[in-house]
Amino acid sequence: MADLSCTTAGIKSPNPFWLASAPPTNTGYQVANAFEAGWGGAVWKTLTDGQPIVNTWSRYGALDYNGVKMMGFNNIELITDRPLDVNLREIYEVKKRFPNNAIIVSLMVEATREAWHDIVKKSQDAGADGLELNFGCPHGMSERGMGSAVGQVPEYTRQITEWVQEVASVPVLVKLTPNVADVRYPARAALEGGADGVSLINTINSIIGLDLDTLAPRPTVAGWSSHGGYCGPAVKPIALNMVSQIATDPQTAHLPISGIGGVSNWKDAVEFIALGASSVQVCTAVMHYGFRIIEDLCDGVSNFLDERGMTLDELRGASVERIHEWKELDLNYVINARIDQDKCIGCGLCYTACEDGAHQAIFSERRADGRTYVEVKPDACVGCNLCSLVCPVDGCIEMVEIPNDFERCSWEDVTSGNGTLAPRPVHD
Ligand SMILES: Cc1cc2nc3c(=O)[nH]c(=O)nc-3n(C[C@H](O)[C@H](O)[C@H](O)COP(=O)(O)O)c2cc1C
Ligand code: SF4
Ligand code: SF4
Repeated sequence: MADLSCTTAGIKSPNPFWLASAPPTNTGYQVANAFEAGWGGAVWKTLTDGQPIVNTWSRYGALDYNGVKMMGFNNIELITDRPLDVNLREIYEVKKRFPNNAIIVSLMVEATREAWHDIVKKSQDAGADGLELNFGCPHGMSERGMGSAVGQVPEYTRQITEWVQEVASVPVLVKLTPNVADVRYPARAALEGGADGVSLINTINSIIGLDLDTLAPRPTVAGWSSHGGYCGPAVKPIALNMVSQIATDPQTAHLPISGIGGVSNWKDAVEFIALGASSVQVCTAVMHYGFRIIEDLCDGVSNFLDERGMTLDELRGASVERIHEWKELDLNYVINARIDQDKCIGCGLCYTACEDGAHQAIFSERRADGRTYVEVKPDACVGCNLCSLVCPVDGCIEMVEIPNDFERCSWEDVTSGNGTLAPRPVHD
């Protein structure tokens, strides 16, 4: 079994899997149960001081897609509504009981140096292994000048991180909001402010949908609603991109990352780690399936590493060097679709997709035996992948590299006059 112990920005945990700051980390009871189940760390549900927190009763909504429940999840919940002293006492008790697990305390207070100093000291006294500054919540608290209202302004992010670092004796992660045009700017600001690492993503601004009987937006609160935070499997591609942006930015490339957003299984976790995350946080999947998913996460990543003879350190960032700007990609890398006639069930989905939605490169014919025969026209296929993505039979449509005599040639090469493009199908 591969060694999964890890360090994120100086925070040690027996494995890279942490509960994200959210309902599963609301109480000491839950965090203790999670550690018993095998979670490496937990980011406590965001604490505040002096701010009265009252929640609406109805507060979650979900996007089901083709029979899959909770592909996307949305909430209008605020930060913890439990008393600060109760949370701090429970943090102390859980830390004492589980000294080897990481407890990271998520914080959000009004934007004054005194308020931040005070909550940081209290959290450290309670035994926090690290702090996570919640500059990400896009709803409710942002109306009060906190959460994403801070994370969307790099200068505020830098300033508050500096205040925190004036008194912090444990590592400080800045939790970033995805509700920005370019996540590299707040990440750089966090680094300038002295952050030991960043965690991302918090939730994405959203309206999950309407109740078509009443036309009320969901989650409905006495007929009204408000924009909320979107998360769950549907947001993973956005989160992966943002993690990779920070990992590939020369200014923040060395900044430790705790990756969050749509992680449901070990494969998702491998993706975040390969794109540069040191640890991986999970919320929606635990709200859906419970703490037990930690077994799949640990076993899956461990087997993946063992099969490749890799360590967790070697996996971390292994795919970062493969992310480039579009203009650097090889325009002479030619691929075509190939249909395995033995596997084809003649459903015709590839034909329709290519004919109506791509490049009219699939020939289709209804044969005497009633079966639909499909074949790729190599001269018309641009290798876009669409047919292989819609085909319902695994391995039936393969994308095959077509060797050619042309050297690698990127758009940069073309525009600088240094490259020759291989011929490509022309659709008149
Ligand atoms: C109901 C709910 C409450 C949340 N509360 C907090 C919070 O108090 N503090 C925080 O930093 N993030 C909060 N989050 C965001 C999560 O920590 C996480 O960043 C986000 O859900 C993305 O991860 P996921 O796709 O695994 O759910 C909350 C998310 C949900 C769904
Ligand atoms: S790869 Fe694209 S262009 Fe080629 S056959 Fe498939 S859908 Fe058509
Ligand atoms: S989508 Fe796949 S199974 Fe269906 S006709 Fe095309 S190749 Fe055959």
